[in-house]
Amino acid sequence: MNKKYYITTPIYYPSADFHIGHCYTTIIADAIARYKRLTGYDVFFQTGTDEHGEKIEKKAKEAGVTPKEYVDKIIENAKDLWQSLGISYDYFIRTTDKEHESAVQKIFKKLYDQGDIYKGEYKGLYCIPCESFWTESQLVEGKCPDCGREIKEVSEEAYFFKLSKYQDKLVEFYDKHPDFILPISRKNEMLNNFIKPGLEDLCVSRTSFKWGIPVDFDSEHVVYVWVDALSNYITSLGYPDESNEKFQKYWPADLHLVGKEIVRFHTIIWPCLLMALNLELPKQVFGHGWLIINGGKISKSLGNYKDPREYIESYGVDAVRYYALREVPFGSDGNFSEEALITRTNTDLANTLGNLVNRTISMSHKYFEGQILNPKVTEDLDNELIRSVLNLKSIVEEKMNALKVNEAIDEIMEVLKKCNKYIDDTTPWILAKDESKKERLATVLYNLLESIRISAILLSPYIPTTSENIFDQLNTNETSYDSINEFGKLEINKKLNEPKILFARIETK
Ligand code: ME8
Ligand code: MG
Repeated sequence: MNKKYYITTPIYYPSADFHIGHCYTTIIADAIARYKRLTGYDVFFQTGTDEHGEKIEKKAKEAGVTPKEYVDKIIENAKDLWQSLGISYDYFIRTTDKEHESAVQKIFKKLYDQGDIYKGEYKGLYCIPCESFWTESQLVEGKCPDCGREIKEVSEEAYFFKLSKYQDKLVEFYDKHPDFILPISRKNEMLNNFIKPGLEDLCVSRTSFKWGIPVDFDSEHVVYVWVDALSNYITSLGYPDESNEKFQKYWPADLHLVGKEIVRFHTIIWPCLLMALNLELPKQVFGHGWLIINGGKISKSLGNYKDPREYIESYGVDAVRYYALREVPFGSDGNFSEEALITRTNTDLANTLGNLVNRTISMSHKYFEGQILNPKVTEDLDNELIRSVLNLKSIVEEKMNALKVNEAIDEIMEVLKKCNKYIDDTTPWILAKDESKKERLATVLYNLLESIRISAILLSPYIPTTSENIFDQLNTNETSYDSINEFGKLEINKKLNEPKILFARIETK
């Protein structure tokens, strides 16, 4: 049986349409999911939406619709966006799904019955747009440390989860699993800022709004955000039915991919909830950085962004995917700008990749009427190219296993640059003038075509549409991961299809 790989994105708040920041996480998760599928894993890739809460209740009221009507429209739009980005999710969970709601009620009841949830009074400082509680000491100049806006003092009867009870077990888990939180800096942040000062019990129900999953044994209360939201990762697998086939197969998750601002929920609250439920903990939480615009966070509540589909329409889906995957070192913050997207597309996709493919296919048509031949009239410099191409598989694997996605792509681009240099060094147009060099010329073109084939297979998780386009131009069926273990699988005596421009250079004003 194939090894399994369960990867998740956060379930996003459908309080407004999704922006390029949500695309960022989702594209990266998609690329990792596709990479794992390519390399033989049985992948379960999940995304979805986190639909309850006071903020959505308010937004719907302002719009004069019910909360469900409000989110339905945004979710329809989100699914359309994921389709236009080629997001290959296996499951889209909504926290308003009936199965999820009833599973959350059962989880809540179980934790209550075993004494891990108790009733108390909540007094706290709350940021409505961020749906986060803060302590006095976390505030920055009296305002929300995440968004800088006003916070509200609230006091109400509430249920609490005994987070404090699991503190020691959590630290022990961190110690035993040094790769649980990546990048490593985020783990230290969790330990120093949140765990060492002592974990406080967590408010898990509210009475001040209605748009949430009712606590079934106390109808005044709705389940408050994190128990509802985080449980999505197991309710989708059929939990609390632990014998469910999906749960058996895919839990624990291999990777929760999240933005850095919700690492603490995924590495503190979530593991403690799972320990209370006596379940295995996820293998890894990766907290990536933020895309920022002009130095500030892209934010639905600030409204400083374009619909991502505008970029797809202007530059193509793979330009947008490529930019998200390649531009920012994974883990760090990075500026998002349309100019940088254009530059990245022109240099890497149009110049390096597009030119290489176009020149090679065009020359094959010009000199051999598109016939693929390999007379093996080799020279030393061929071996160097072939060696780099054959090494790529393991280099990419190493980078992807360390979630260095941008570096994996960069390695492939370096090989494509070598291919371009190989054209300059072998000068096919000069070989073509000499009838006695015909076989050498055919060999050179074969080496290029085969290098392109192997590169296109390795690029397929990142820019799948482009890889398909390349396979089509190469007229090849050799597109499996195993087919790149050796150099020379491209079928000889077949005919290439006509060259097609992969990426036209984007002209800027
Ligand atoms: O936090 N740069 O939902 P959310 C990079 N519902 N990534 C960004 C980004 C940016 N500027 N903006 C958003 C929630 N993201 C909860 C999650 S999970 C059980 C519940 C991405 O709509 C990034 O992944 O605020 C971030 O963590 C997530 O969207 C926040 O989405
Ligand atoms: Mg947020």
